[in-house]
Amino acid sequence: MADAILADIKKESCMLRRKPGLAVILVSHDAASQTYVRKKEEAAVMLGFVHRQYTLDEGTDEAGILSLIDKLNSDDEIDGILVQLPLPPHIDESKVIERISPEKDVDGFSPVNVGRLMIGKDAFIPCTPKGIMRTLSYYGIATSGSNVVIIGRSNIVGKPMAALMMQKGIDATVTVCNTKTKDLRAHTLSADIVIVAAGHPGTIDESYVKDGAVVIDVGMNRIPDSSKKKGFRLAGDADYDSFEGRDVSITPVPGGVGLMTVAMLMDNTLESARRRQKL
Ligand code: GUN
Repeated sequence: MADAILADIKKESCMLRRKPGLAVILVSHDAASQTYVRKKEEAAVMLGFVHRQYTLDEGTDEAGILSLIDKLNSDDEIDGILVQLPLPPHIDESKVIERISPEKDVDGFSPVNVGRLMIGKDAFIPCTPKGIMRTLSYYGIATSGSNVVIIGRSNIVGKPMAALMMQKGIDATVTVCNTKTKDLRAHTLSADIVIVAAGHPGTIDESYVKDGAVVIDVGMNRIPDSSKKKGFRLAGDADYDSFEGRDVSITPVPGGVGLMTVAMLMDNTLESARRRQKL
């Protein structure tokens, strides 16, 4: 599905007057962030987009990042600006995100896009929730009238996911759980769709879901494993193996939501390029 979407994006982007341009800023030595940024670069290069990567030293001050964003905001070759999160603790994440022009905010994290999504206006939709909506639609999974339980309330996944699911036309009944939720299982057992974005392996297993349910696993946890070349293996937030033999559809990790997140970033960048070329 992700490959098919990327192939479509490639075709569409060839019809523009100029190539879509994506700028990615990474201010971290965090190994996972480096991997995510590399995947984004690979996709952008494969599509023939203009791709600029700014890898800043962990000690970079806030003013340096803000002035780079200012430059990219007024750079006509660049349609999308992405600052990989998390940022080091001495940098104010909100200040950085708010500096990105909403017209180039292909992550959909700026207050303007968050607000527009919330009130059902045209907006850049954060890539992971957008990818999940596309996945459900691709596999013909109905949302109208369904009970959707989201585990996790982050700005990147949980909150925008809830906003999308609540929208008119999507029409799900949404429950958003967090670490203080009493009896998580009682909530998930009534769900037609469980979206688990808790950031902890084993947050749910097969005993948390009813027959016929759909589980979307957003987790991306590195589990130490000396038998692997890298010294770790990736695991989602759901105990995937426990679902064996159950009548449940579940997305794998790796090879699931992550691929769609990257594809949706490319989709948002193409969309921005189109808007900025007034097509
Ligand atoms: N960190 C984890 N997920 C994301 C994402 O989708 N975008 C950015 N910018 N940072 C992230």
